[in-house]
Amino acid sequence: MAGGSMSFAEFMNACLYAPGLGYYAAGNRKFGAGGDFVTAPEISPVFSRVVARQVASVLEQLSTPSVLELGAGSGAMAVEIYKKLRELGAAPEKYRVLEVSPDLRERQQRRVAEQLPDDVERFEWIDDIPEAMSGVIVANEVLDALPVERFEMRGVDVLQHRVSTDGDGFVIRSSEAPTVLIEAVRGIESDRGQRLPAGFCSEICIAASDWTARLASSLQQGAIFLFDYGVGRDVYYAPDRDGGWLRCYFRHHVHSDPLVYPGIQDITAWVDFSLVAEAAVAAGAEIGGFVTQAHFLLAGGLDAELHLMQDAPLDEQLELASAVKTLTLPGEMGEHVKCLGLVKGDVRTPDALTMMDITHTL
Ligand SMILES: C[S@@+](CC[C@H](N)C(=O)[O-])C[C@H]1O[C@@H](n2cnc3c(N)ncnc32)[C@H](O)[C@@H]1O
Repeated sequence: MAGGSMSFAEFMNACLYAPGLGYYAAGNRKFGAGGDFVTAPEISPVFSRVVARQVASVLEQLSTPSVLELGAGSGAMAVEIYKKLRELGAAPEKYRVLEVSPDLRERQQRRVAEQLPDDVERFEWIDDIPEAMSGVIVANEVLDALPVERFEMRGVDVLQHRVSTDGDGFVIRSSEAPTVLIEAVRGIESDRGQRLPAGFCSEICIAASDWTARLASSLQQGAIFLFDYGVGRDVYYAPDRDGGWLRCYFRHHVHSDPLVYPGIQDITAWVDFSLVAEAAVAAGAEIGGFVTQAHFLLAGGLDAELHLMQDAPLDEQLELASAVKTLTLPGEMGEHVKCLGLVKGDVRTPDALTMMDITHTL
């Protein structure tokens, strides 16, 4: 139907989100030890509790604030953020969730009903980014689940990777890139002040620009916290990163072949946070800070959360200590996952964005 091939972004979109068949749209396990990968909210509730402290610090400055979580996965973060906000006396009137997967939306609703039976009516699942809102928007590992284009430089020309079939399976074919992709690559080159080398192959997430711009335009006053594996553009498109940032997950095995196990494995790509920041700023937001996950947690109240656990049974404390290591260690999640914090309207920069701010790398 697509004329024999589809762009890599269309292929990735189908593999992840095709109704009833895509990785996120079918009923497989995905998250946690029995799934394919582990995200910070699945490692320990302490992650979401620290995020909640930062959310509360913004909500308290606004008159009718709400929270919007994008791509809530199993619902773990939604439940824990809400619980902590309630504990802090900062529960919002509305905790909205925008989830593209009907299967996950159902799981999230079940979890909220089981774990927060008295507060169900405060939760609302919405189908699109609201026209306007005040409050806080959070998204953990959503940007890296948006479909990316793959491109390759032939001399100075930009080729688009398209997915086709040779009869036995899927294959990549390169063909002349559409204008939107050529322009995006030329933008990267002019930003870096040099041409990408011949033969260089990487990804670009055109969808992330539009997505971020819509979030930033929607927010009238408040903050946006975007957590993801990613780096600034200089590192993303450094010549030694030839081959790009795509990663596939199947039962906790990481590999780089997106053409196998369609709909059964997760496909993700690290995020070019410079692209995200540019889109946000163009839509009227300011960069509050760009920090590693470790620094976000350390400056955001991790010590206070650990203090609250000091009388917990020893086995719980040991489990927590191990989770904190995974969340904060450099060379792993602590450093590879970053938080881009955006602010809009008259709000103070949240504390978690103030330690070792690396906005200059964007
Ligand atoms: C890698 S999972 C992360 C889930 C969860 N935030 C966590 O940290 O465990 C990506 C999530 O984003 C959702 N998603 C993907 N594209 C989205 C979009 N455009 N809007 C909202 N959710 C989206 C997926 O269905 C899934 O729930």
